[in-house]
Amino acid sequence: MTKKKLTIKEIMDKKHEGEKFGMVTVYDYQMATLVDESSCEMILVGDSLGMIVQGYEGTTHVNIEDMEYHLKAVRKGAPNTFIVADMSFMSYQASKEEAIRNAGKLMKLGADCVKMEGGLGIMDKIKAVSEVGIPVMAHIGLTPQTAAAIGGFKLQGKNKDTAERLIKEALAAEEAGAFCVLIELIPSELNDYINSKLTVPVMSTGSGPSAVGFNLNAYDMLGIFSDFKPRFVRQYAKMRQDMIDAFSAWDKDVKSGSYPAPEEAFHMSEEDIPKID
Ligand code: KIV
Repeated sequence: MTKKKLTIKEIMDKKHEGEKFGMVTVYDYQMATLVDESSCEMILVGDSLGMIVQGYEGTTHVNIEDMEYHLKAVRKGAPNTFIVADMSFMSYQASKEEAIRNAGKLMKLGADCVKMEGGLGIMDKIKAVSEVGIPVMAHIGLTPQTAAAIGGFKLQGKNKDTAERLIKEALAAEEAGAFCVLIELIPSELNDYINSKLTVPVMSTGSGPSAVGFNLNAYDMLGIFSDFKPRFVRQYAKMRQDMIDAFSAWDKDVKSGSYPAPEEAFHMSEEDIPKID
């Protein structure tokens, strides 16, 4: 059965209807086709592609052209799935105009909303983008683009002061017009509180069960990325070792001469075969 793509209203209604859904992060056409064929209703084309696809240690090298390139591929593979497109580092922070222009580029390429990460300093950009009619998912908590400034890739909001700051940011994001707030890596108890204070739905990336939407990265879930496994990741396969074993098995067949077999090659009729003198 073909899936029906979620609408912003349906996502917002889910909070009041008590329905939950999953958002898988992918970056390419093939992976997108798999999510599109699954029951998952949302895809994130995340700037984590900086680490997973490009091999950097963080997301700050990623630019808006990278996001456009990957978004186009994912949109083609997942025509029936709601797509959240990440705005890359410095594609929206400098000015409202730049934020609107770059968010517009992603929408023209098929995004259903954009995601903007950051604290109180970007609320005017969220407001500006929302006000021109582009749906914005705000991203607070662990914000990888500014990881260096917030103490690294660590649990956020563990003490009273940082928890209070996050509560303010979540409320400000809703006030600025975000239709949804993604919260990455905060304690469940703080997420419960924020979820109870917001009208708009919360998405949780490692922030416990108080949310409408939950996000995992396809490479983590499938056990392909193995540098580390955050506690919140549930692995449903161990594909990394299977893939390495497949490459090695093929290499062994090449080296032994068993690849390619006659049925894996193309053939011509006897009379057309060029004769070697
Ligand atoms: O880029 C990404 O994968 C993200 C998630 C961690 C939420 O922003």
